[in-house]
Amino acid sequence: MKGMVFTSFLEMVETKFSLKLVDEIIESADLQSGGSYTTVGTYDHHEMIKLVVQLNEKTGIPVADLVRTFGEYLFVQLLTMHPDFAVENSTVFEFLQKVDSYIHVEVRKLYPGAELPTFQYDTSISGMLIMTYSSSRPFADLAEGLINGCIAHYGESIEMKRINLIDGTSARFELTKVEA
Ligand code: HEM
Repeated sequence: MKGMVFTSFLEMVETKFSLKLVDEIIESADLQSGGSYTTVGTYDHHEMIKLVVQLNEKTGIPVADLVRTFGEYLFVQLLTMHPDFAVENSTVFEFLQKVDSYIHVEVRKLYPGAELPTFQYDTSISGMLIMTYSSSRPFADLAEGLINGCIAHYGESIEMKRINLIDGTSARFELTKVEA
């Protein structure tokens, strides 16, 4: 997992909680990297899981909620670093359909060693977008948070239903436009 995901996560913990809590979770997570990440470095994704579990133990907030919240936060960070992806796509459905075929393809060029999921899309039902997340890593909650971040960015009213397929490594997201 890329260092920029870890630095964004620790920034979120500092912003939403405190720098003291950042130090505490790094201390108690027993990380091979020692918790010092460079944005371009690549680290074991299990370190992210360890950090989130420590944050859960210290705050009592469920792991899934923490990861979803981080997904929303990360979406804003990613767009701040790469604003073109939003400029080129004018709606949520347009943007999300580009994640697999374009955005993550560009990400691979920008961040060598990035471990990225795959998405399959079903657009056969009008007013709906169904996207199926698959990965060897258990980050379906992160995907859900990133999708929520995308919906918030465009300010559209969209209902999302999630169906878990394989324990955190695969899930189907059914997005339905809510007519005003
Ligand atoms: C709503 C849209 C998006 C979704 C649902 C999404 C989903 C994900 C997920 C779930 C991961 C974690 C890796 C895994 O599960 O295997 C991931 C990683 C990543 N994504 Fe996306 N993504 C989105 C948009 C973007 C955008 C806009 C960017 C860049 C501008 C981006 C860049 C990355 C990077 C750099 C990683 C980390 C890879 C690594 O750590 O090795 N994603 N994405």
